[in-house]
Amino acid sequence: MAAVTVFSLCLLASVVYGFNGDSFELECPDECDCHYFRINWVTDCSESNLTEVPYDELSMSVYILDLNGNNITTLQTFPPDIKMRRLQIANNRLTRVEKNSFKGLEYLIDVDLSGNNITYVDPEAFLDSRGLLNVELQDNPITTVDGPFLISSTLQYLDISSCNLSVINTQFFDNITSLTTVDLSSNPLRKLDVGVFDVLTSLDNLNLNDCQLTTISDGAFSSLTNLKRLELADNFLTNTNWSEVLGNLIRLEYLNLRKSGITSLTEDTFSNCTNLVTLILADNELRDLEVAAILGNSVTHLELLDLSNCHIKGPISGEAFANATKLRVLYLSGNPLFAPDLQEALEPLPKLERLFLSNCGLHNLPDNFNVFENLLELDISHNPLVNVFTKLLAPLEKLEYLNMGYSNLSYIGPDSFAKMTSMKRLILSGNDLLSLEAGLFGNLTQLTTLELEFCGLKRPLNANAFFKNLTYMDLREIRLSGNPLVIPESGPLFPRQLSQVTILDLSNCNILSLNRDAFKNTENITDLNLAGNHIKSGDNSLSFLERLRHIEKINLSNNNLTTIEPEVFINNPKLRSLNLLGNPFLCNCKIAEMWDWANMIKGDLDMLVGAKSAEKDIVVKGNKKKKNLYCHYNETQLRNLTLTINKSVPGRRPFVKPRELTYAYRTWAKYVRESGCEPVVKILRPVALVADLFDVNSGHISTAALVLAVLALILGMSTLVMTIRLFRKKAHIMVDTEQRKLR
Ligand SMILES: *[C@@H]1O[C@H](CO)[C@@H](O)[C@H](O)[C@H]1NC(C)=O
Ligand SMILES: *[C@@H]1O[C@H](CO)[C@@H](O)[C@H](O)[C@H]1NC(C)=O
Ligand SMILES: *[C@@H]1O[C@H](CO)[C@@H](O)[C@H](O)[C@H]1NC(C)=O
Ligand SMILES: *[C@@H]1O[C@H](CO)[C@@H](O)[C@H](O)[C@H]1NC(C)=O
Ligand SMILES: *[C@@H]1O[C@H](CO)[C@@H](O)[C@H](O)[C@H]1NC(C)=O
Ligand SMILES: *[C@@H]1O[C@H](CO)[C@@H](O)[C@H](O)[C@H]1NC(C)=O
Ligand SMILES: *[C@@H]1O[C@H](CO)[C@@H](O)[C@H](O)[C@H]1NC(C)=O
Ligand SMILES: *[C@@H]1O[C@H](CO)[C@@H](O)[C@H](O)[C@H]1NC(C)=O
Ligand SMILES: *[C@@H]1O[C@H](CO)[C@@H](O)[C@H](O)[C@H]1NC(C)=O
Ligand SMILES: *[C@@H]1O[C@H](CO)[C@@H](O)[C@H](O)[C@H]1NC(C)=O
Ligand SMILES: *[C@@H]1O[C@H](CO)[C@@H](O)[C@H](O)[C@H]1NC(C)=O
Ligand SMILES: *[C@@H]1O[C@H](CO)[C@@H](O)[C@H](O)[C@H]1NC(C)=O
Repeated sequence: MAAVTVFSLCLLASVVYGFNGDSFELECPDECDCHYFRINWVTDCSESNLTEVPYDELSMSVYILDLNGNNITTLQTFPPDIKMRRLQIANNRLTRVEKNSFKGLEYLIDVDLSGNNITYVDPEAFLDSRGLLNVELQDNPITTVDGPFLISSTLQYLDISSCNLSVINTQFFDNITSLTTVDLSSNPLRKLDVGVFDVLTSLDNLNLNDCQLTTISDGAFSSLTNLKRLELADNFLTNTNWSEVLGNLIRLEYLNLRKSGITSLTEDTFSNCTNLVTLILADNELRDLEVAAILGNSVTHLELLDLSNCHIKGPISGEAFANATKLRVLYLSGNPLFAPDLQEALEPLPKLERLFLSNCGLHNLPDNFNVFENLLELDISHNPLVNVFTKLLAPLEKLEYLNMGYSNLSYIGPDSFAKMTSMKRLILSGNDLLSLEAGLFGNLTQLTTLELEFCGLKRPLNANAFFKNLTYMDLREIRLSGNPLVIPESGPLFPRQLSQVTILDLSNCNILSLNRDAFKNTENITDLNLAGNHIKSGDNSLSFLERLRHIEKINLSNNNLTTIEPEVFINNPKLRSLNLLGNPFLCNCKIAEMWDWANMIKGDLDMLVGAKSAEKDIVVKGNKKKKNLYCHYNETQLRNLTLTINKSVPGRRPFVKPRELTYAYRTWAKYVRESGCEPVVKILRPVALVADLFDVNSGHISTAALVLAVLALILGMSTLVMTIRLFRKKAHIMVDTEQRKLR
């Protein structure tokens, strides 16, 4: 019982302080930013110029430790009892993983060591981590491995791509036999011998893309009878006995042989792979490919065939797809095709649902599109089409997706889409349309997305392209990126018919400013992209936001904003994502205001993109290079900097050690800590806290009630603890300041 109470106390106290933007309860190294991700304590020390792991300052409860992007060269031993589940030290300068590097980390599940300078990994490094599942070591110069690579009976996922490995010895996988996924891509292996993969009988997914492979021994994969997915793209496998290599892969469902130097294939190549669902042969010189012979009568489950860019000399025979009765998706993009051949070859595929004919040199189109009663998606982009042939598409009444982008069109007849009443997504980007015919989109009453990027449009969208008497109820997304729009000085940008639009992309449209009524007819926008324009601070430049009461997501990245304040979002109560990356912000107290606003009023610092590590930054194989919000000090500030630093502000964690700044660019996170700006936001919302507790215990109301009772009981206690701690902290800072003054 005592243990439970102590645990509750910790939980309560940590949630309170965590929510507060404070972190007195759980320790946080001075250079790092710590926060909860769901209920897990994240210690984010990424991109902080660290040269060593701050072992002494870690909380024993740290769940995720993010040290990505520092200058750490060596690992010592973590303190015993640390409960760490995930460790990320990608993009540092580690050179070796020693036997004791991860000693005692019993709870470790994921390790990311990618992008270091590691040449040696001790096979026993993870002996203590008995629940280890994922290890990422990609982008390290490991080069050679003698004997078994690692010892772990639980490891399932191993990424050792781009490690300059030239040989995989026959014992390499001997003590990691639970592996289900192995990524060996981008290693100069050149050849694969028999025996290497023999112990990996659970293997499900093997990636050997870009391994300079010229030879694969016939029996190399003979034990991989559970393999479902095999990737061999970007190799030189011209002389490979494919029927032998693939002969035992009876469960294979996905085979990628893109760009692997294949020039011919024998008839029995895939004869034992009777479960193939996806076959990718794109980017090979298959000039003389007899599609019919290869597919034979064995690939009865084949649903997707990709023959893009195979230079098939053709003509593709009428028999080609005769037996591929399940084929639903066919890629023929990038092969020089003629409309009449195509017409014949496609005739047996009336069930085809998706057809890709991009970049086929087509001037006109096959005129039997009427047989494709089930065609839902058609891509005829990047063909030098003659305007008039677009009318051949007219019978495709079921079409839901049509891409006619970059097809040299300068005119699209007003009836072109008249019968395509099922159309959901229409792409006309990259055609110099300049203007749109009256009624062109009139009948597209189910349209959800319209893309008109890079069409040279000066006016956003004219009212008469739509029927006057209609509101397009489903039209939710309009993409106009890359048009040199001329924005009117007053009045709305879009006609009334588009009132249901919720997603609007106006990125890179040369916009200098937007008037207050710009979105008067499209007030239901929830997602607005204005990235890459030239919007400046001042002169009510963001007053257009006043009308957007439903907005949830705004992208203002890469504009020309120098300062911004929370007041401009006063009419946007639903806002939950604000992207301000890449603006030349000055370091001033408005930034601290924005920070407090996001943290306390919005209750979620994550809404400010780049303020802290987001979910995507802390997933395996996630986006490692994260982008931060920056501001820069002006000259005067920089000179006075050490004076304001360390001023204690309630609700923000100050730096403990004195520091000197020699560079003017700061992340918002660091600036807010050192700024000494007065907090203007004093509102806290403990309601959210209680909701969190219930969330954790959902389904156990009685437990939640108990926790609440305990909560009430110990509230007084925790307040006391907090007060004492605050007092101590203040005292500590005062001493600190005194010491600095003395120096
Ligand atoms: C690492 O240190 C080098 C100099 O030793 C410096 O140039 C570089 O900017 C540092 N990198 C990081 C991410 O701090
Ligand atoms: C790291 O430190 C170096 C100089 O010591 C500085 O030039 C660089 O900007 C710092 N990087 C970061 C991300 O703070
Ligand atoms: C990696 O380590 C080698 C020595 O093993 C060294 O020569 C090289 O400069 C290091 N590379 C980086 C980027 O630190
Ligand atoms: C590693 O695998 C080999 C071969 O299966 C086995 O003999 C050896 O005992 C294993 N070592 C460990 C530490 O599990
Ligand atoms: C194909 O499978 C059969 C048994 O199902 C087997 O006898 C034959 O050797 C396999 N073919 C190849 C090329 O391995
Ligand atoms: C299609 O299958 C039938 C019997 O299943 C076979 O006779 C015919 O040769 C096959 N056609 C092609 C083009 O392989
Ligand atoms: C629009 O679609 C309807 C129903 O499919 C059809 O009857 C009508 O003729 C079409 N309008 C035009 C202008 O083609
Ligand atoms: C709207 O007007 C068009 C012609 O402009 C006409 O074809 C259509 O039937 C009208 N629809 C409704 C719902 O009134
Ligand atoms: C926004 O959507 C609601 C419900 O879908 C609708 O009633 C309202 O008219 C729309 N607002 C505008 C400005 O069209
Ligand atoms: C940003 O604004 C400044 C003046 O406020 C101007 O000199 C500069 O050219 C603008 N930059 C861009 C990319 O628009
Ligand atoms: C520099 O910033 C300080 C504080 O934000 C401000 O008072 C001062 O006017 C700025 N100086 C210049 C030259 O912009
Ligand atoms: C900042 O530095 C200037 C001289 O560089 C000095 O005159 C001024 O008083 C300082 N301001 C503060 C707030 O310390």
